[in-house]
Amino acid sequence: MTLLDGKKTSEAIQNEIAAEVAAIKAKGGKIPHLAAVLVGNDGGSVTYVTNKVATCERIGFGSSLIRYEDTVTEEELLNKIKELNEDEEVDGFIVQLPLPKHIDTEKVIEAIDPKKDVDGFHPTNVGRMVAGLPAYLPATPAGILQLLQRYEIDTKGKHCVVVGRSNIVGTPMSILMAKGGYPGNATVTLCHRNTVDLAYHTRQADIIIVAVGQPGLITADMVKEGAVVIDVGTTRVPDASRKSGFRLRGDVDFDNVAEKCSYITPVPGGVGPLTIAMLMTNTLRASKKEVYG
Ligand code: GUN
Repeated sequence: MTLLDGKKTSEAIQNEIAAEVAAIKAKGGKIPHLAAVLVGNDGGSVTYVTNKVATCERIGFGSSLIRYEDTVTEEELLNKIKELNEDEEVDGFIVQLPLPKHIDTEKVIEAIDPKKDVDGFHPTNVGRMVAGLPAYLPATPAGILQLLQRYEIDTKGKHCVVVGRSNIVGTPMSILMAKGGYPGNATVTLCHRNTVDLAYHTRQADIIIVAVGQPGLITADMVKEGAVVIDVGTTRVPDASRKSGFRLRGDVDFDNVAEKCSYITPVPGGVGPLTIAMLMTNTLRASKKEVYG
């Protein structure tokens, strides 16, 4: 069994980007700039956004963090998005989700200029991805593709079972794994909350990708010997022995599943660290006008 080391892979990608930024700087080119909009004080969101901004600094990107109280109006937020769309210094920006209930998330996402949508959430980028056109890919699926590629895991003709159909992970993952090229060319089954006998499906899988947020959902009896298991779950569970008071648990019962696998991601330290690296990749692509010209 080989552990898929997301931390190491993320660092490798970040180092590659940092080297490219240094070369851009040396030539007097435009330094990539990422802006992040954060609404409210949700612990997870604050941590993610703080990490994103710190990563920008480390790899030589410019960054801005725009914070609002969770009482911000939709109109204020939409005005800020318009400003960021027009700001030539800003190559790409993200609005951290989830947003408070009084704000229409879809409306906010659709207000972002697709050219600056480095999260890849805008319907234009989603549609372009489905059509196989150049697009910003969402960070988590893109990070999983990087893991498969950098560990040279065979995907052609394999049966990939994706569990969870979210817009951010499961749905795009299922599309990307079924596409031609590498990693891809897999036969894909997309399972979700209405799937009858989930274990029947996962037991057929050469590759299982699970993103539902249900700790320990995938148990050893659900996994075929030699399978590749990718765990996207990161649920905070109370843990009095930790200073933070919680620890992260994945959707896979790692202790019992790992020994059956050829490859498996740990939680934490698997898929999680890749998402930041892929956001940085998208921001670099935005600054180089690689996707939309
Ligand atoms: N919330 C959870 N994941 C993400 C992400 O990738 N981007 C944004 N903007 N919000 C998120």
